[in-house]
Amino acid sequence: MNIKDRLLEKLLISKGKPVSGEKLAHELSVSRAAVWKHIQALREDGYRIESSTHLGYSLVGSPGKLTPGEIRAGLKTKIIGKDIRYFEETESTNIIAREMAGRADEGTVVIAESQTGGRGRLGRKWISPEGGIWLSIIIKPKIQPSFAPRITLLAGVSVAKTIRSFGLQAKIKWPNDVLINGKKVCGILTEVGAEIDLIDYCIVGIGIDANVDTESFPDEIRDGSTSLKKELGHEIDRIGFVHKLLLEFEEIYVEFQKEGFHSILEEWRNMSATIGEWVKITTHAATIYGEAVGVDSEGALILETGEGKLEKIVAGNCEHLRRP
Ligand code: BTN
Repeated sequence: MNIKDRLLEKLLISKGKPVSGEKLAHELSVSRAAVWKHIQALREDGYRIESSTHLGYSLVGSPGKLTPGEIRAGLKTKIIGKDIRYFEETESTNIIAREMAGRADEGTVVIAESQTGGRGRLGRKWISPEGGIWLSIIIKPKIQPSFAPRITLLAGVSVAKTIRSFGLQAKIKWPNDVLINGKKVCGILTEVGAEIDLIDYCIVGIGIDANVDTESFPDEIRDGSTSLKKELGHEIDRIGFVHKLLLEFEEIYVEFQKEGFHSILEEWRNMSATIGEWVKITTHAATIYGEAVGVDSEGALILETGEGKLEKIVAGNCEHLRRP
């Protein structure tokens, strides 16, 4: 983290109580003049910082941005979010994460207030205005590339659990959409860099329509989309949400590495919106209709396509339909 973010983290940790310029200068190994300069920069970013000659600086108001200082101050994780790269605006956090993945530490998070070229699955565009939570997590699990779909499911479980902790009944649509009341509130795009038999890195891109007005979305996605703000009837604390999400993700990821996928899959099944539904699956090769009857240990969807005939779907687009 740079000096400005570390300074902000210290002011946040002191929770509105004044911290002397001398103490800050000492802890950050900079001069008091440099502390003053960074205080001014934070004020320009929208932070309200009071200063008193005797007591020092106290933070009394924050613009609620997802800056590294804000996130680090209340984060309880050990690996996820140790390094946070922040952008007011970028093309896509997944693109940035991919570019830096080779040299980045496991757990690095790239986060942006808005994306100009947000990427969705199957080459789609992902609308990413201010107010949402657009982030990518770099992880380096020692698994074969064929196990990567499990990471997407694991991420879906972490998002659904986080949303549930805010009192909303989130469910997961295979493979990776999180829904509230049947409408999409989150999409996950997992991208993998791999050798033939081992993953180098995995980028888990998570997009959450948090405090976003979905009414402004294009016609084709507006009716099927919702936001946390819409479902709750008020804005959510995005910083608190990110703290919870990164912690959930870390706990599930650590469990995956230690114990395997079994209990995570059980959680996924319990929160599934897809199992029991009639679905249309579109893959690059075919369109398949059937009843979703389960998800196997690799994260593939099992469809009953007629008279007990089962099909295994590893990847594809899934639509829930009315029963014929
Ligand atoms: C989907 O199609 O449902 C997946 C959408 C994934 C969007 C997120 S937002 C953060 C990250 N950066 C991107 O460009 N995409 C992912």
